[in-house]
Amino acid sequence: MKPRAFVTRKVYPQAIAILQEDCVVDYRDTLEVADKDTLRKRLQHAEGVVCQLTDAMTDELMAAAPKLKVISQVAVGYDNVDVAAATARGIVVTNTPGVLTESTADLTFALLLGVARRVTEAERYLRAGKWKRWDIDLLAGIDLAGKTLGIVGMGRIGKAVARRAQGFSMRILYSSPNPLPENEAQELRAQHVPLRMLLQNSDFVSLHVPYREATHHLIGIDELSIMKRGAFLVNTSRGPVVHEAALTAALEEGMLSGAGLDVFEEEPKVHEGLLARDDVVLLPHIGSATVATRTRMCTLAAENCVAVLKGERPKNPVNPSVLG
Ligand code: DGY
Repeated sequence: MKPRAFVTRKVYPQAIAILQEDCVVDYRDTLEVADKDTLRKRLQHAEGVVCQLTDAMTDELMAAAPKLKVISQVAVGYDNVDVAAATARGIVVTNTPGVLTESTADLTFALLLGVARRVTEAERYLRAGKWKRWDIDLLAGIDLAGKTLGIVGMGRIGKAVARRAQGFSMRILYSSPNPLPENEAQELRAQHVPLRMLLQNSDFVSLHVPYREATHHLIGIDELSIMKRGAFLVNTSRGPVVHEAALTAALEEGMLSGAGLDVFEEEPKVHEGLLARDDVVLLPHIGSATVATRTRMCTLAAENCVAVLKGERPKNPVNPSVLG
């Protein structure tokens, strides 16, 4: 008998086709996020689940899913999954690294350019009918060329951002618990420095760390206050890495020139103080949102789920110790 896989929310159809080859698929074909009771009920008989960052995969839910063998997340970040609980229960957790690197790095650059060249502010100005003529200082921003970009977290996405920054003639500093091998750092022309030094010396700071206890509010008021006056902060990682109220205060006090944010502490809620500002670019968590990338994220999650259910090693285990 085929194993049962539960898909919590709408995905690209190619993923369902992959699952259907080897599983009986229980598909919630809707964009609505399932509530806890629905998840509990549908997980009861599931051996695999394909879930998204909007689904809180708690120990309590896992306890109600006695047959569950794999939690396959459609994202590289998996802070919505209690991995320790899954590991303790012998459940494999998988994610989708690699396939969204370039799309997320592109969006990071869209934010860098957006804040530096005041793109969304300028568009609002035009649409509001305020544009009367060409003026010498109309919506003048700053250049990226020659500026210092501080990349916090030098994993796949951090490196892809560094590659783009080279093309924009930026100087690159980075901080990471795992410095790059010398040849790779040289190739990226990226200098490893402690976080504090990066914050003090960067014109743009871009965050590329996973969200964990250790990165909760990694950028708070202390860090914001040592940033170069007039610098910009960009975040395409996870919202709670930045203390949003502190960032709002830093912008209000003129410590920073602006921020580009694709992620927020309590999505989809955005701090009122940020919504009111013209010097921030705010996007609804679309870092990986191209059709090709989102499709590949869905198919990779399906492949990971099927692999575990067939007794094979999945491509992207997060807790490989469970696989023995
Ligand atoms: C991820 O993969 O973690 C992204 O945030 C989803 O777009």
